[in-house]
Amino acid sequence: MQEDVQIRFFDTTLRDGEQAPGYSMNLDEKVRMALQLETLGVDVIEAGFAIASPGDAEAVAAIARSVKGAAIASLSRALEKDIDASARALREAAHPRIHTFIATSDLHLQYKLKLTREEALDQARRMVAYARNLCAEVEFSAEDAFRTDLDYLCRVTEAVIDAGATVVNLPDTVGYATPNEFYEMVHAVHTRVPNMHKAILAVHCHNDLGLGVANSLAGIRAGARQVECTIGGIGERAGNAALEEIVMTLRTRADHFGCSYNIRTEELYRTARLLASITGIKIAPNKPIVGQNAFSHESGIHQHGMMADSRTYEIMTPESVGVLKTSLVLGKHSGQHAFRKRLNELGYRPTDEEMSGLFESFKVLADRKKTIEDRDLVALMESALAVGADPKKMWMLDSFVVNSGNRMISTACVSLRKGKKKYREVAMGAGPVNASLKAIEKIIRHPFVLEDYRLQAVTEGREALGEVLVKISDETGFYRGRGVSTDVIEASILSCLVAVNHMLDENTAASALGAATAARERTGRTPPTGTLAESRMAEE
Ligand code: KIV
Ligand code: ZN
Repeated sequence: MQEDVQIRFFDTTLRDGEQAPGYSMNLDEKVRMALQLETLGVDVIEAGFAIASPGDAEAVAAIARSVKGAAIASLSRALEKDIDASARALREAAHPRIHTFIATSDLHLQYKLKLTREEALDQARRMVAYARNLCAEVEFSAEDAFRTDLDYLCRVTEAVIDAGATVVNLPDTVGYATPNEFYEMVHAVHTRVPNMHKAILAVHCHNDLGLGVANSLAGIRAGARQVECTIGGIGERAGNAALEEIVMTLRTRADHFGCSYNIRTEELYRTARLLASITGIKIAPNKPIVGQNAFSHESGIHQHGMMADSRTYEIMTPESVGVLKTSLVLGKHSGQHAFRKRLNELGYRPTDEEMSGLFESFKVLADRKKTIEDRDLVALMESALAVGADPKKMWMLDSFVVNSGNRMISTACVSLRKGKKKYREVAMGAGPVNASLKAIEKIIRHPFVLEDYRLQAVTEGREALGEVLVKISDETGFYRGRGVSTDVIEASILSCLVAVNHMLDENTAASALGAATAARERTGRTPPTGTLAESRMAEE
C-alpha cells in the first residue's frame, strides 16, 4: 500500500471520447454532459480541441462559461495558432488549462512530423512557454510516450517543466503497453527527472489490447497523480480507460491503493446513462460498474450466497455507484407528491412548471402500465429533458392513426400542434414508422434523412415502455431524438419530433446568422434543392 495520495481525474469524454464514431454531440448536449461531469466531481474536463472547428471552439467556450467547479482544458497541437484558439475559447473559464501536445516517438517524428528529436524538443519547450504566457495551467502531453526512447522522454519532460508545464502527461496512445512495462516507464520518469516535483505526472491509456484501466492503475502505483479517462471508456478505436472502472477499483481496493479522489461515485450510473441517452449508444449489459448485469445474480448458488451474506458475491454495492435499487415504485393511484418524491430520490429536481407536464405523462403511462419502475421514471425524465426549448415554437404530437398489415402499404395520418394551431397530413410508407415520419416531413416542410433508428424495451414484460432513439440529418448537421411510450409508433413519432425541433431550431439560428455556407463547411454536404410540394391542411 502507498501513502494516502490524491488522484485527480481528468475526463476527456468530450474530446477523445467524442472523436469516436457515433459519439459526436451537439453544443447543448456537450454542456449537459459537462454539467453532469462537474456533479460527478471530476477535477478537469477536457471540453474539446478549439482549433478543430468553429463548433469545437464554441463548445469549449460554452462549457467554460457554464462549469465553474472543475478546470476546463482545451487541446492544442504545439503550434501558436492552436494555443491561441484554446486561450480564446477558455477566456471565460474559472480555471482554464491549455493542453498542448507533440509526438515524441521516433516513429511519429520520422513519418508523421518529419522532425528530429532535437527539433521536437525545442518546439515543445517553446510552445509550453508560449502557452504559459497565456494561461497559468499548462499541460504538456508527449504523444506516443510509451513507444518513445526513455532517455529522450525524460529530457523532454525536464525541458517542458522548465518551460512552465504544470502537468506532464505520458500517453499510451495506441494501447500497446502491458501493466508492468507501463509501470516501469512512469516510475522511470517519476524518479529520474530532476525537476519532476514541480509538476504533476499524468497518464492517459488507450484500450486497444483491453489494458487501458490496468495500465492507468499501474501508472498510479508508479507515481502518476492525474489519470485521464472517459465515461464508459469511449474514445478512438477501442477507446480510453474507463473512468468508472478506475475510480471503483481505487474505492473497492483502497487497502491496496490508499488513494483519495474527488469523484462522487454515487453519480457514476447517472453519468453513464446520460451519455447513453445523449448519444443513443446503449451501455453493454456486461459493462463493469454501470452495465445492466453488473449487480444481478442469476445462478442459484450465487443467489443463495447473496441471501446468506451479500459479501459472498458482491464486492461493491449498487448504491455506491448509484444503480437504481427499488423495482416496484408507483402505480396509477400514486399522487403528484409521491411522484415528485421518487423523482427527487432518483436525483431529479423538476421545477413546478416542468412537474405538471411530467405528471401528465406519468398518468398516461400509469394508465397503460400497471407498475411503474424506476427505470420507467428515468426514461420519462430523460426524454422530457431531451425536449428542451420553448414549447410554443415546437412541433408537438396531437394525435395519429396508422393502418398497417402484411399485405398492404402502410398509411399514417399524423396531426401535430405548434402553439395553438394544428396541422394534419397523410402519408404512405414501407411500414408504419416510415409512413408516420413521411407525414411529419410533409407537415414541417423540411426534408430530412433518417440516419439511424433504434428501438429497445426499457423494462421487461409485455407492458414495457418502448424507447426509440433516432438520428436524422439535413444540410446543417445531425440531430438526435428520444421518445418513450408503451406504443412503439408513438415512441417513434415522439423521438422524431425531438430531433426535428432541434433541427429547426438550428436552422433558425443558422439563417439568423446567414450561416448557410458555414453549415455546409461544417457538414461537408450540399443542401438538398427544392422543398416538398405537397399541400397541408391547417386547422384552428
Ligand atoms: O492518446 C493521445 O496521445 C492523446 C493525446 C493528444 C493526449 O489523446
Ligand atoms: Zn488519447
